[in-house]
Amino acid sequence: MSEQRKLVIKGGRRIEGEISVQGAKNSALPLLAAAVLLKGQTELYNCPGLSDCDAACRILSALGCSCKREGSVVCIDASAIGTSEVSEKLMREMRSSIIFMGALLGRCGQCRLSFPGGCEIGSRPIDFHLDAFRKMGAKIREEHGYIACRAAKLKGAEISFPVPSVGATENVMLAAVLAEGNTTIHNAAREPEICDLAGFLNRCGARISGAGTGTVHIEGVKRLDGCRYTVMPDRIAAATYLCCGAITRGELLLTHADIASLGPVVPVLEQIGCSIYGFGNGNVYLNAQRALKAPAQIRTAPYPGFPTDAQPPLMALCAAIPGTTMFVETVFENRYRHVSELIRLGAHIKVEGRVAVVEGVNRLTGAELEAGDLRGGAAMITAALFAEGTTKIGKICYIDRGYENIEGLLKGVGADIRIV
Ligand code: EPU
Repeated sequence: MSEQRKLVIKGGRRIEGEISVQGAKNSALPLLAAAVLLKGQTELYNCPGLSDCDAACRILSALGCSCKREGSVVCIDASAIGTSEVSEKLMREMRSSIIFMGALLGRCGQCRLSFPGGCEIGSRPIDFHLDAFRKMGAKIREEHGYIACRAAKLKGAEISFPVPSVGATENVMLAAVLAEGNTTIHNAAREPEICDLAGFLNRCGARISGAGTGTVHIEGVKRLDGCRYTVMPDRIAAATYLCCGAITRGELLLTHADIASLGPVVPVLEQIGCSIYGFGNGNVYLNAQRALKAPAQIRTAPYPGFPTDAQPPLMALCAAIPGTTMFVETVFENRYRHVSELIRLGAHIKVEGRVAVVEGVNRLTGAELEAGDLRGGAAMITAALFAEGTTKIGKICYIDRGYENIEGLLKGVGADIRIV
């Protein structure tokens, strides 16, 4: 990716004020794909303005759907779908383009997509997705970098995943809602975004139960109609801003957030010494003006475990508070790409396979960094807010994939941050 812009951050300023949390990227993307299945118009509210969402909208347009954004509302009408093929160029723009496979199979009985892009945090295979579609009766051919799927009539099936996969659970739900008969997903992912997708599809006429548990049942229906739906708040953006508040020993009020979906992020921040209160109206308050102490161990795991997506910003926070933390990354094999950049700021971190040991220091100093993936980029911003002097972060297109207006929001709460 060619990218001239840089984020320039002068660290050392306390963050204080209010941040309105965006809609969830990882919920908006499957909801946009789900629109392919619906008759009539769909209106998605609180859809974050992110490059990944723009990429999903470009796929919808290329398929022949009408897809228009006005502010945070995206209106989609999939009545006139003209093709079930997505070009390599569009597929490469984001990893989650694979989610269109289930939706297109459900709608058109066939699809042809290239292998998705976005492999910066590990190999990210799609075997669970393909095996599940085969069980549902699809014939799949892989040739010349493309995957062609065909199923005259998709049939419900018993699907069991070796480990819970968010994308594969969503893809099967999308394929199964219009399939003939019943589908059960065993060892399904339990992430809040799965519940959001089920809530949306059920509002459109689907019959899905058990979302949020390890067993999801889908009873195929004949038709789904578009609806109005509000995308859930982004729990990873919220976690990132809480880490930014904590590292500057600041005081933050997040609005439009959902404290329940943050899962173990809240107790970990409390253990570190932050006070956090959820007010039940979408407001989450953080105060980090006490002595902070690093947690002994953080182990990422599928929900309700500690989210792998929040590991990089939390690691940045732990790098700047006294104590030693052992991180164990169990979800992705290559999710420590931010470590070498944090070390450039003066962090003490050693990585051995899936384990990273962080010894907190009381001083980091600004340096020139480069983002290599979305959440790693967020970790660099978090650390830079604490580091003395100026940090410049390149390749910020990775950060644009998942954080809407992050520099504006942080500037609004007192950070010295700008894009050049
Ligand atoms: N896996 C396989 N085969 C498959 C699918 C998954 O082996 O066919 C493995 C993966 O390699 C990984 C594990 O299963 O080790 C879990 O991966 P999962 O499928 O759950 O991840 P994903 O659906 O590709 C989503 C999020 C990620 C988030 C993970 C885990 C979206 C669009 N992406 O990815 O978000 O890290 O779940 O929670 O929902 C991000 O936002 O920065 C991000 C990477």
